[in-house]
This record gives sequence, structure tokens and C-alpha cells, in this order.
Amino acid sequence: MKKIAFLLAGLLACMAAHAQEPTSKTFWDDPVNNPATPIYVTAALVFIVFLLVLIVSIMMLRAFNTLIEQTEKAKAKAMGVAYTPRPSWWSTLTQKLNNSVPVEREQDIDMGHSFDGIRELDNHLPPWWKWLFYSTIAWSVVYLVVFHISSSLPLSHDEYQNEVAVAEQEKQRLLASQPQAVIDVDKLEYTADAAIIGKGQKVFQDNCVSCHRKDGGGNTIGPNLTDDYWLHGNGIKNVYTTVNGGFVEKGMPAWGKALSPSEVRDVTFFVLSLHGTNPPDAKAPQGELAKPDASPKTDSLNVSAAR
Ligand code: HEC
Repeated sequence: MKKIAFLLAGLLACMAAHAQEPTSKTFWDDPVNNPATPIYVTAALVFIVFLLVLIVSIMMLRAFNTLIEQTEKAKAKAMGVAYTPRPSWWSTLTQKLNNSVPVEREQDIDMGHSFDGIRELDNHLPPWWKWLFYSTIAWSVVYLVVFHISSSLPLSHDEYQNEVAVAEQEKQRLLASQPQAVIDVDKLEYTADAAIIGKGQKVFQDNCVSCHRKDGGGNTIGPNLTDDYWLHGNGIKNVYTTVNGGFVEKGMPAWGKALSPSEVRDVTFFVLSLHGTNPPDAKAPQGELAKPDASPKTDSLNVSAAR
């Protein structure tokens, strides 16, 4: 009975797991009032009845077998012959599955080939093997029709594509539910806003230091971001555009694809805040000299707009 209770608990747990809605409320939050409860209870009762019927049938069958055995024994005794028990269902089944030739009849299938005393027997393939083989042939026909002729079910590749499409939809849904701040570059103005620069520094450390160095001094890959010389123009508008769109063929990734607009803004502010910090061993200047009033500490927007 303990086993049955255990099985029942497992079954209920499985059902409950299936019944879970995408909402955070689960079956177990309020099992009594859950609309699915009557179905589960009925299923559980049917399952218990099924188990009981099964147990009783097995017990009856065993009792029945014992009775038959006793009758046969008595019969054999009355007839004066030795009682030979009937083969068990298991040995009948394995014999049916294997249909092997008994050792006593081996000479019937001896092919007469003997190699160093090892003889070759003309054994047939066991029926279980042949059935398996035939069923694979039957399955191949079903498969061909279902997957390639009627196309009722998707092939693995299509299945994958469908899942990707669903994931893409889900992604769009999530993105739509978290609207991004829209950054208008033309209206962007640099201020030494410690909060924004702090966030930008974090973005810089996570994404930019491998090519521009921690202090922005530049390395063999990326240029110095602290000096007065710019490859792609100084001022907030140019720097924002450079970071956002990148110069992929020159080795500067387009960060607008990986970062949110506000993250690009934050890191742009941080880059501008690095101006004139003169880190040691900074990379030699590259590009054009920024106009003196292009210092981001004042108003970089006008300068960049004027260029
Ligand atoms: C894979 C290396 C790499 C990474 C990572 C990288 N950059 Fe760059 N970056 C470059 C290269 C190379 C250039 C120069 C492109 C050129 O020669 O036109 C550059 C140029 C720039 C420029 C223009 C400099 C100028 O002189 O005009 C800015 C601004 C800049 N990067 C900012 C960033 C920021 C911000 C990040 C992080 C979000 C970043 N970079 C990450 C390689 C990188």
C-alpha cells in the first residue's frame, strides 16, 4: 500500500507540474479550488482501481496455476507416469523470441565446415531480430510519408527554425515590454554628470579596455582617447556616432548592436571625461587635432556640428 501511495504522489506531482500556468500561481498554491482538481482526483481513483484489479488478477492467476499444477500432478500419479511441469510463460516467450535450435539437434544444421574443430552451424536469425528489422522497414515507410511526402510533421531543421522563430518573437515581446530610452544625438550635451560617467566607466571596463586600455591611453589596437587628436572627430556627437556605429573594417566594433542607447550615451560621456587626463605611456596621437574649443568640458556639441 505504501508503494501505491508513493506512485500516486508521483503521478499527482507530474500532473501538477504539467498544469502549471506561465503565471506565477502554481497548482499547489490552491489545490482545492483549482479547476483541474476533479480531473486529477478522478484520474488518481481510476489509477488506484486499475492497480487493484491488476494485483487481484495476478494473485488469482497464481492460485489458478497452482490448482492446475496439483490436478496435473494427481493425474500423472493416477496414470503412473512421471509428472513434467509445463514450461513457464517466460521460457515459452524466450523460445518464441529466439527460436534457437536445441543442442541435441545441432547436427541437423551442421554445414560440414570445420576449422580447427570449430564447426559452422546454419543458424537462422532470431525472430526478435527479424521483427525488429521488419518494423524498421515499416517505420521507414511511415517516416517517408509523414515527413517527406505529406510533410505532416516538420523535419529537424524546420523544427529548429520554428523554435528560433518562437524565441525571436519572445525576445521582441520582452524588448517591447522594456522600452529603451531614445537618445537624440543632436540634442545630446556633455556635462560632467558623475552618475552618467560612473555608469559609463562600468560599460568601458566591461567592453573597451582590451583595445583602449583601462585609462583610455590606447594600445596596439585602439587609439588614445584622452588626447586632442581624433580619427573620427571630437565632440559628443562624433564620439557617440563612432561608438554606436563603429568602424568595423578598422577594428572598432559597432557597439550600438550590443549595448542599449543609454549605455552608448553613458560610455560616450565617460570617454569625453577622459579628455586631457594624460595617462602615462599613452599611445602617440592619431588623426586630426581637435579645435581648441572642442574641449568636451565646455560645449563640444557646437564644435562637432561645425566640422
Ligand atoms: C576590438 C577592439 C576595440 C574595442 C573592444 C573597442 N574599440 Fe574603440 N576603436 C578601436 C579601433 C581599432 C579604433 C580606431 C578605428 C580607426 O582606425 O578608424 C577605435 C576607435 C574608437 C574611437 C574613435 C577614436 C578617434 O580617434 O576618433 C572611439 C571614441 C572609441 N573607439 C571608443 C570605444 C568605446 C567606448 C569602446 C567600448 C564600448 C570601444 N571603443 C571598444 C578598437 C576597439
